[in-house]
Amino acid sequence: MNRPDLSNLWMPFTANRQFKSSPRLLAAASGMYYTTHDGRQILDGTAGLWCVNAGHGRKEIVDAISKQAAQMDYAPSFQMGHEDSFRAATAVARQMPQGMDRIFFTNSGSESVDTALKMALAYHRANGEPQRTRLIGRERGYHGVGFGGISVGGISPNRKTFSSALLPGVDHLPHTHSLEHNAFSRGQPEWGAHLADELERIVALHDASTIAAVIVEPMAGSTGVLIPPKGYLERLRAVTEKHGILLIFDEVITAFGRLGTSTASDMLGIKPDLITLAKGISNAAVPAGAVAVQRNIHDTILAAAATGIEFFHGYTYSAHPLATAAIMATLDIYEREDLFARAASMSGRFEDAAHALAGKRHVQDVRNLGLVAGIELEPRPDAPGARAAEAFQKCFDEGLMVRYTGDTLAVSPPLIIEESQIDQIFDTISNVLDTID
Ligand SMILES: Cc1ncc(COP(=O)(O)O)c(C=O)c1O
Repeated sequence: MNRPDLSNLWMPFTANRQFKSSPRLLAAASGMYYTTHDGRQILDGTAGLWCVNAGHGRKEIVDAISKQAAQMDYAPSFQMGHEDSFRAATAVARQMPQGMDRIFFTNSGSESVDTALKMALAYHRANGEPQRTRLIGRERGYHGVGFGGISVGGISPNRKTFSSALLPGVDHLPHTHSLEHNAFSRGQPEWGAHLADELERIVALHDASTIAAVIVEPMAGSTGVLIPPKGYLERLRAVTEKHGILLIFDEVITAFGRLGTSTASDMLGIKPDLITLAKGISNAAVPAGAVAVQRNIHDTILAAAATGIEFFHGYTYSAHPLATAAIMATLDIYEREDLFARAASMSGRFEDAAHALAGKRHVQDVRNLGLVAGIELEPRPDAPGARAAEAFQKCFDEGLMVRYTGDTLAVSPPLIIEESQIDQIFDTISNVLDTID
């Protein structure tokens, strides 16, 4: 086929002009590898965008989607249902902490976040506290790109263009990243639990009776891999509980095995009130997302409605038949292949290989949890982000896909990764760092 015209597509979160002058085009994917349009094999060090947890091109998922497309392409999601939407909800609920078994389907992480924020407002209204409307996010948080998500999110370039249109009544906790205290921590860092007490300051400022919810990523990925300090999330849970504030864990990245368990909540033994999901829920084979909700929140919202529709919210494609087929096939693979335990068992080797980069030129931090690692490079004084951008491009040229945010390289491979591929990832990064000024 002829090479396509690149001018029509406006690419998301991409340096469009730069990309189009030197495109990175992918043509096929199987297992741990992408194939580029010119036939090169690229080891997938990022599970696509933190989402292809079971590896690419899984036959069971492909078959389930194809079969479903032939049988029923679409079913309306309002006032109608199809059996697999209920089966998929049950399958997702089984992966969630005890009692968080009411599942609302969306199509993306951004939609899951906005859905969860609206559920928090609906819950307090139903519970007789309609004045609880304030939402608390965290600096450096990434919660997708809806107006709700960027308002509670804390990544300034994502906010500043739209600053006058952000939701009112939002405040932010400080982020937990500290090179001074935590550089080169293995797993959860020791320093930083006290930062959760900043919520007490926010409560004192606004009064708890005005605050609906706090939303955080248990492990923040997109902002450059920030690992929760030991005890931090436990404290956040205690303070939110004390003040009747709902706690939303945005587990769009962390759920479905990334940290070696079904959820970060499960790994840490902390139960939030709502969990947002997407990405690994369907192995990214069909866009899908969900919100898992504590039963009493769901029940309170339903009970408060006189009759008819209880929650005026939903998407044309909520529980799309192709998505529910992909979700069930994906969750089957996770269970049958025990992939979360596999991720846990690989995480020691992964940690050692990542931390072997300590001491390399430009490396000012290595941090990791489960099958995620962040390698923070010292920024060039005149061009923040440029060093990591160069490393990213050179890794790609050397047959490895990584991600970068600012000057942090992020690694988050599919959970099917082999030990030799772990070595390949970090050896490639190491070699590339040798070539960068
Ligand atoms: C924690 C978190 N929340 C929300 C999102 C947004 O998901 P989506 O891009 O599917 O809208 C992401 C995407 O990376 C994410 O990491």
